[in-house]
Amino acid sequence: MTTVYLNGQYLPRERALISADDRGFIFGDGIYEVVRIIQRRIFEWDAHAERMVCGLSGLRIAFGEREVAGLKGICDRLVSDNGLTDGEATIYLQVSRGSAPRIHQFPSAGTPPTVYAFATKFTVPRELREKGGKAITFPDIRWARCDLKTVNLLGPVLARQAAAEAGAYEAIFLRDGMMTEGAATNAFAVIGGVLRTYPLSNYILPGITRKVLVQLAANFDLSIIEEPVRHSELPAAEELFVCGTTTDVTPIVELDGRPVGNGKPGAITKTLQDALAARMYEAVNAAY
Ligand code: PDD
Repeated sequence: MTTVYLNGQYLPRERALISADDRGFIFGDGIYEVVRIIQRRIFEWDAHAERMVCGLSGLRIAFGEREVAGLKGICDRLVSDNGLTDGEATIYLQVSRGSAPRIHQFPSAGTPPTVYAFATKFTVPRELREKGGKAITFPDIRWARCDLKTVNLLGPVLARQAAAEAGAYEAIFLRDGMMTEGAATNAFAVIGGVLRTYPLSNYILPGITRKVLVQLAANFDLSIIEEPVRHSELPAAEELFVCGTTTDVTPIVELDGRPVGNGKPGAITKTLQDALAARMYEAVNAAY
């Protein structure tokens, strides 16, 4: 039986019911996070919490730093109640503006946010990580606040569906002729030996994995330039990869039906993949 958290209670999943008036349901009016658990430890909790606080304050949802800090204990309890203390898991956390009659502007002050969380067992897809996957490009039809991790995910939903229909793993968004990020990942390319990724701005999510990779690259004297890659430059990319909490570093070896570089994961991609794995698992091992 799966136990989830909803508004102060730990419940069997089928008993976790929310109001049909919930603004998360009606307007997509909420913020979410996905965190990775390795042997009971949350990878980069502080960074996820900080991003969640920023997102909630960006939407002006009354759920601040102290309340977000309280979600950590909920994650711990979901891991133990669901027997996920060994191996890996992910936890989905969502805070919506709560339930109120449907009017666009905010409901009256004091309307409690809806807080929901669930844990899922996670198994690393080793073959995909080692051999890489396919991607397609897709127009970035999202709004102009992609830095907020809102539950409104229609752009990524349509993009991932197009990817699935094309037999691809990820869709890479293009806005104004530039690669922004993946549907649920940040994207990096190596062009002329230089690693490039879209700069932090309102057009991408400030990924936690992206942040860790930028830090790690410094250890290998790899220079990362935070500048957009043009669509027209992509055919010349030697390497391409996407990254995220559930993606780690995943090489993209085929884009829009054409091989990337020599069609195999590249050296810089592998270096960062290994460095990230070392950081994720060492951080955990050090705690024991
Ligand atoms: N997605 N960009 C987008 C649009 C994302 O949705 C995600 C994460 C990322 C990577 O961010 P991070 O490294 O912090 O996971 C980048 C999550 C995992 C999801 O929607 O399931």
